[in-house]
Amino acid sequence: MIESYDVVVIGGGPGGYVAAIRCAQLGLNTACIDEWKNSQGKASLGGTCLNVGCIPSKALLESSENYERVAHKYSEHGIKVDGLSVDIPTMISRKDKIVMAFTSGIAMLFKKNKVSSIHGKATLVKNKNGNEPWKVNINNDNKDETIEARHIIIATGSTPRQLSLAAVDNELILDNEGALALAEVPKRLGIIGAGVIGLEMASVWRRLGSEVTILEALPEFLSVADEQVAKEAQKVFTKQLGINIFLGIQLTEIKTIKKTITVKYQDPQAKEQTLEVDKLIVSIGRVPNTADLGAENVGLKIDDGGRIEVDSYCRTNLQNVYAVGDVVRGPMLAHKASEEGVAVAELIAKVAEQQISELTKVNLDTIPWVIYTSPEIAWVGKTEKELKAAGRKYKSGQFPFMANGRARALGETSGFVKVLADANTDRILGVHMIGPYVSEMISEAVVAMEFSASSEDIARIVHAHPSLSEALHEAALGVDGRSLHI
Ligand code: FAD
Ligand code: NAI
Repeated sequence: MIESYDVVVIGGGPGGYVAAIRCAQLGLNTACIDEWKNSQGKASLGGTCLNVGCIPSKALLESSENYERVAHKYSEHGIKVDGLSVDIPTMISRKDKIVMAFTSGIAMLFKKNKVSSIHGKATLVKNKNGNEPWKVNINNDNKDETIEARHIIIATGSTPRQLSLAAVDNELILDNEGALALAEVPKRLGIIGAGVIGLEMASVWRRLGSEVTILEALPEFLSVADEQVAKEAQKVFTKQLGINIFLGIQLTEIKTIKKTITVKYQDPQAKEQTLEVDKLIVSIGRVPNTADLGAENVGLKIDDGGRIEVDSYCRTNLQNVYAVGDVVRGPMLAHKASEEGVAVAELIAKVAEQQISELTKVNLDTIPWVIYTSPEIAWVGKTEKELKAAGRKYKSGQFPFMANGRARALGETSGFVKVLADANTDRILGVHMIGPYVSEMISEAVVAMEFSASSEDIARIVHAHPSLSEALHEAALGVDGRSLHI
């Protein structure tokens, strides 16, 4: 007999597992199908984020930053350490333990919430009697099983974009998976793509001693961020951290001879340049995972970028079929995936039937971005460039961490906070930060924007002293030209 569910979720990453838990909490009989296997060949929930993304990268960023602090920053505190060394296998195994704790934690959460966890590859199959209930084939080690469901949530995520010039082998040419599992510090590390992964991985391995060179196709550095933030970041990464960053390049050839990778590229003046490295990370973006999903079997619409087409409620063109996370439009971020998962679960359970547009729609305009380099970079809302392009009149207030007491005590004084507010209404339109722990500070700006706050609101709220959050307070005061400490 075919097992039948209220909801079948395809994909066990932060979009899928969160959707499954929320569906189960709302009383829906739910199954989650996921095909991820870890390096030991064992099923491992949590998708990209927990296995080879957010969590392991942050573990290595923290370890390498600790090393950097001892090596270069503690001496100004009068703390001297002789004979400093780093044991990479221990660092990697700490990261693996953190990953294991979280991935097995999801399995426990599934048990607790009575979500049926099914390991295998899911494919949508055509139902002879029309489409509903939806039928899903699950293939696990060449064994097939079919289940059915009234509702389907697709959360199949994304995979690294491939470079046509060189295939990733995760020995010499690495994607994020290989970059997070190196057994030793490469002497010379090349990175293709100065995006989020490129910058985070460059930080990890540069701090541990690699000579790092990043080759970026675009002529501008970090063009997704506010221009001024990007400029400050580029200065710190190149001058203080010593990462070589070449912009506006075009790759022409990548060759591996023995253990050396030779990368040939044209610089912006169309001159041929050569880079030799021991490892090469390819981080040129990610592509939505829709191949082999069986979209064509059921007529599921996929857009030109390979994403599943959805409306603002994550509804696809098919009745009762939803899609969330990296596989749909919007930023490829774990928190965005999870919030969409919750919204869809609540839409299915009709919790918010009366206020469907208020509660079951994720506001893509207030999704925070964080890049966990040092200094950290975080933002929410519009950049100055976007506001100018839209012809929106705005005021701006800015405050440097150099003038913040807590940042001085920490010895982390690079960067600033900038608040952009509507010139007429004072409503906050964007907040941009570069500096210590801005990953934590950005939430205040997100809350403010979600509640349609003005810069005056933040300026009138009491912020603890001394705290990094005072920089946001001062930047908000600055919108009206009344910062107190600069
Ligand atoms: P995924 O996490 O990709 O999960 C999809 C799951 O579906 C996978 O387990 C996959 O195996 C499974 N699957 C796919 N197809 C099928 C199928 N047909 N049948 C069964 N299962 C299937 N985001 C942040 O917000 N913060 C960060 O700090 C951050 N750091 C990152 C660092 C790195 C190195 C990388 C690569 C990404 C990072 N991200 C970060 C992005 C984040 O990982 C993704 O946005 C997030 O994982 C997307 O969640 P998802 O559920 O949509 O997809
Ligand atoms: P990305 O989109 O951030 O950056 C890719 C970069 O590669 C771009 O700057 C692009 O111009 C460049 N590029 C593309 N093709 C190229 C080529 N042929 N030669 C040279 N440069 C080229 O993608 P990335 O870094 O792979 O990360 C993927 C996504 O994962 C991010 O966009 C983000 O959504 C997510 N992520 C989020 C993190 C966070 O929230 N802290 C951390 C890491 C990843």
